[in-house]
Amino acid sequence: LQPGDIDVGGVTLRNHLLLAAGVLGTTGASLQRLLKLGAGGVVTKSIGPEPNAGHHGPCLIRTECGVLNAMGLPNPSKNFVEELAPLEGEPVIVSIFGKDPEEFKEVAGWFAEHAKAFELNVSCPHAAGYGAAIGTDPETVLECTRAVASYGVPVWVKLTPNVTDITTIGLAAEKGGASAIVAINTVRGMRISTAMRRPVLGNRTGGLSGKAIFPIAVKCVWDLYAACTIPVIGCGGVSTAEDVIEMMMAGAQAVEIGTAVMDDVRVFDGIAQKLYAKDGADPASIVGVAHD
Ligand code: DOR
Repeated sequence: LQPGDIDVGGVTLRNHLLLAAGVLGTTGASLQRLLKLGAGGVVTKSIGPEPNAGHHGPCLIRTECGVLNAMGLPNPSKNFVEELAPLEGEPVIVSIFGKDPEEFKEVAGWFAEHAKAFELNVSCPHAAGYGAAIGTDPETVLECTRAVASYGVPVWVKLTPNVTDITTIGLAAEKGGASAIVAINTVRGMRISTAMRRPVLGNRTGGLSGKAIFPIAVKCVWDLYAACTIPVIGCGGVSTAEDVIEMMMAGAQAVEIGTAVMDDVRVFDGIAQKLYAKDGADPASIVGVAHD
């Protein structure tokens, strides 16, 4: 593998590793910092049509095998433009959400000049009316994608694993004009405090990320690679160079890293050193090889 300029889904990345949406993506300064620390591109925290404080706490807990969150899509809405202004020219992908194609279009309009691509969050597992509520319906995914694609900025669509057949949703995004599919968002889950006899998260249920969901993500990438024509970007529990290679062999052209960044912000550099030290193979040559 070799680093360099990598074109994936209409965006030029510095390497195959991106910061996933949601982790350290709430300020321009933190996004800038992660680019300096070796991220090949960064995805912002999801931004929506109204300022939102999110769910009441606890919003995030660690489990033995990953992290469970129910942040509730907190975001400053339109004011986020101020954070992005200093990042002009950098590989910044703006994650957005809405409850219908009109809202997606409105939010995208605020950022169309600041985004190298949009990532449509149609996959949050615990936000009433948003996220997975629309991301499980192929027709809605198609319409939201089409509405945002009208700005001429590449559109990536981040899918939920909480469906019976993820390829139906991937194909809908592709038909709507998406330039890439990102798989996956978090897996629905919950924990109960036996001492308190009640759910731990303030929202009761949440989304699981980290190690436990890596095999789920690999399977989703595998299925999407087989079914779709547009690039697939892998996301879910990636924390090592070996994980990145496995994701690529399943069909991912690039990989997003979230939970592992919470443990160590130097994860990009650490992975890159191992990934790009193995000389030889052009990355394009390992994408999807496990299907042969
Ligand atoms: O697990 C998630 N949590 N996925 C999302 O898309 C949003 C986030 C939140 O803000 O709750």
